[in-house]
Amino acid sequence: MEVFKVKRITVVDLKKKKEAKEPIVMITAYDYPSAQMVDEAGVDIILVGDSLGMVVLGYENTLPVTMEDMLSHTAAVVRGAQRALVVGDMPFMSYQISPEQALENAGRFIKEAGAHAVKLEGGEEVLDAIRKIVDAGIPVMGHIGLTPQSIHRIGGYRVQGKNEEQAVRLKRDAKLLEEAGCFSLVLEAVPAQLAKEITESLSIPTIGIGAGPYCDGQVLVYHDVLGIFQEFKPKFVKRYDNLRERVISAVKKYASEVRERTFPDEEHSYL
Ligand code: KIV
Repeated sequence: MEVFKVKRITVVDLKKKKEAKEPIVMITAYDYPSAQMVDEAGVDIILVGDSLGMVVLGYENTLPVTMEDMLSHTAAVVRGAQRALVVGDMPFMSYQISPEQALENAGRFIKEAGAHAVKLEGGEEVLDAIRKIVDAGIPVMGHIGLTPQSIHRIGGYRVQGKNEEQAVRLKRDAKLLEEAGCFSLVLEAVPAQLAKEITESLSIPTIGIGAGPYCDGQVLVYHDVLGIFQEFKPKFVKRYDNLRERVISAVKKYASEVRERTFPDEEHSYL
């Protein structure tokens, strides 16, 4: 019997896309049905982001998210995705203590959840952790610019790299992350021209979110794209639908049919 298996996107394919100037599409997902849908839509990378904390678990920020939260949601996404590369986002304090701790937790994403790569936030300060993880054979995606796990240090969700000192630091961090072995780099909330310079200086693909049109790829949060999460909307978010309104309207219709006793009707009953 011939079993048809979809070919999975790999980190090598992503590098080839950069070389071919073919834009890379990344989106977040946090569960089995959303992973199935975005995979069927043909995205290249699914990020199980720690934005989970805000858009799924209802926290104010990403800081309370645990390894157990991330592993459970990453495993569900892996079960739903056949083609996309699945990246597990390492939560706050799962990699900052030591390179050994970082490797142990990165390994859990691969062994327990079935992820194909991990992502972690930071520049120079996380190089040892990245080297340790990459040396163990685990692909790492970097993340610089606005790093939400450091909001208390940064002083809020603000654009990074607007002054010369910050821009120089971001350019340097990007190079160091590439040299440490990252296969790709998220640039969050940085001016478009700076993102362009960084993108052109690297051989690994950059994936932008609020970083303008010149990155090698783009990422958005699933709940933002679909208009499910509406508590706030950063400038860079484009809503492609308003599912929040559509869900409320459908559930209202169901509730009123139950109250009016028009549901279930004959069609939806065993006679
Ligand atoms: O957690 C997340 O969703 C992210 C993306 C916004 C890049 O880190």
